[in-house]
Amino acid sequence: MTAGPVLKIENLRTFFYSRSKQAFSRAVDGVDLALEKGETLGIVGESGSGKSVTALSVMGLVTAEPGVVSGKIGLKTDGIQKNLLQNIEDYVNMTQNNGRIMHVSKDNRGWQRHVDRHLRGVRGKEIAMIFQNPKASMNPFSSVGRQIQEAVLLNTSIKNPREAKERALYWLEQVKIDSPQLRYDNNPFGLSGGMCQRAMIAMALSSEPSVLIADEPTTGLDATIQSKIVSLLAELKSSVGVTTLLISHDIDVIKTLSDRVAVMYGGRVLEYGPSRDILSKVDNEKHPYTAALLASIPTARQIREKSYLQAIKGDVIDTINLPRGCRFYPRCRQVTDQIREQCKQREPDLREIASNQSVRCWLYFDA
Ligand SMILES: Nc1ncnc2c1ncn2[C@@H]1O[C@H](COP(=O)(O)OP(=O)(O)O)[C@@H](O)[C@H]1O
Ligand code: SF4
Ligand SMILES: [Mg+2]
Repeated sequence: MTAGPVLKIENLRTFFYSRSKQAFSRAVDGVDLALEKGETLGIVGESGSGKSVTALSVMGLVTAEPGVVSGKIGLKTDGIQKNLLQNIEDYVNMTQNNGRIMHVSKDNRGWQRHVDRHLRGVRGKEIAMIFQNPKASMNPFSSVGRQIQEAVLLNTSIKNPREAKERALYWLEQVKIDSPQLRYDNNPFGLSGGMCQRAMIAMALSSEPSVLIADEPTTGLDATIQSKIVSLLAELKSSVGVTTLLISHDIDVIKTLSDRVAVMYGGRVLEYGPSRDILSKVDNEKHPYTAALLASIPTARQIREKSYLQAIKGDVIDTINLPRGCRFYPRCRQVTDQIREQCKQREPDLREIASNQSVRCWLYFDA
């Protein structure tokens, strides 16, 4: 049997149209990612870098227009390979001039119908998702236990309601909900934020998905609850071992849970590779953006003294008016005189600089 990634995203592009600026923004702009079976791939980057739009594009959940305009999303389950963006080119017409998008027309209604047909049986079943706000993602009128039981009945081979209830209780135990028997009958609003996030995780796992996408699963929770959810995800990683795409702006969360990491900025992946190496504070070779992100993490002492470091200076890039060269150039502190012109004029490719580590930066190779 041939191995290979469970999920392979190739050259994904998702654009939006700003009426006020009468221009297209490139929220996700040529992203390539591959998830190997059983691994956790993290996506990290400041707010607005295109992490969530990448995830929503995979799930066919981008509703604003034009939305996904090109790419391939290969999903391999039970040895069967499918492209979730199959025939996208039939729905999109795009013209560009010198890298600027002049015109995009997309039959969005037709595309959405195509996606809904195509992704039936994938969304929630083969790919499950955990969001930042569990209360908004669960049905407020039904108990959490019932919702998990329904997910089991719908998405697994268990078709007997009693067995499905047992399975739902099993998952509530797996996520360490206190008194699962009692919690089973609670509605989401009867649970604390942390408990509700646990229930959401249980629901996602209960479908036995091939891929789990967790978008900021700890953001918005109190610090102590955050660290408990991170510990839980770490335990589930070794006990359940589900292939996971984990998105967070929090480097510590990504570092603790991910095997590999993609660092995103301005809709692009700037660095890709083993998360232990890339996200260590040791001064090894890394992209200047990654280095700046790491430097912006406050130390324990700074947190104690409430003297937070400033995040990276300058604003996150606007993907409507892109610079000609490197997207990080306006904020980069590592440009040398030797490469300045290159940085300004030409965007570097993502190239391998060490085994499995790729970087998009002129510091590491010649033009
Ligand atoms: N529905 C939308 N309509 C227009 N622009 C959007 C929409 N969703 C996201 N964006 C823009 O796309 C960019 C990437 O957003 P997002 O993927 O949510 O960033 P993050 O990395 O914080 O998850 C941002 O500039 C955001 O404003
Ligand atoms: S290519 Fe140049 S501007 Fe971009 S990150 Fe590297 S050094 Fe900085
Ligand atoms: Mg986001």
